[in-house]
Amino acid sequence: MAEPDRRARLAILISGRGSNMEALVRAARTNPGFPAEPVIVVSNRADAAGLAVAGALGVPTAVVSSRGRSREAFEEVLDACLRAHAAEVIALAGFMRILTPGFVGRWPGRILNIHPSLLPKYPGLDTHARALAAGDSEAGATVHLVTDQLDGGPILAQARVPVLPGDTEARLAARVLEAEHRLYPEALAAYLADRRAVADTLRRS
Ligand code: GRF
Repeated sequence: MAEPDRRARLAILISGRGSNMEALVRAARTNPGFPAEPVIVVSNRADAAGLAVAGALGVPTAVVSSRGRSREAFEEVLDACLRAHAAEVIALAGFMRILTPGFVGRWPGRILNIHPSLLPKYPGLDTHARALAAGDSEAGATVHLVTDQLDGGPILAQARVPVLPGDTEARLAARVLEAEHRLYPEALAAYLADRRAVADTLRRS
């Protein structure tokens, strides 16, 4: 990512539906100033619905199966796939595998994730159910850098939505997801736009 005017080569990792991946690809396609170009969508599951979505958008796809492989073996193949596509930055988008410190260390400051809660509240799973059970008046999503800490890396941006009377988990999830689709492209663009911020964030983490 040396020349600031060149679009960074973006790999997007998914495991399922891929709606955040689609939001990133559409942002890159519709905004000529978007600082990243999706070059590969990788899924660890062959049945991820997002693979067809990426294909329809004309983004190359790959399946790196995590089944029947050790974590290390899986990450070796994943790393090779990303390097074969000359990826420079990686966006996790509903990617349901925890990456080891070894893998994360090979991509310092280059892996982003989107998480459906206002971190540091509710790392891990079932975020919307937990927000409802706690009686929270607001919920939201966070884009953060991936480090060794699960859902614990430096926060880059957050989007807030209200929790409304009568909300179910599904209704709240849908409201948060809509906010995610705006947040992820914005947060990625802002992060890449200021390469000095990348270096500074890394120094602090
Ligand atoms: C999103 O809620 C995201 O925050 C979380 O997993 C979900 C993925 O949804 N990490 P999609 O596959 O992007 O539609």
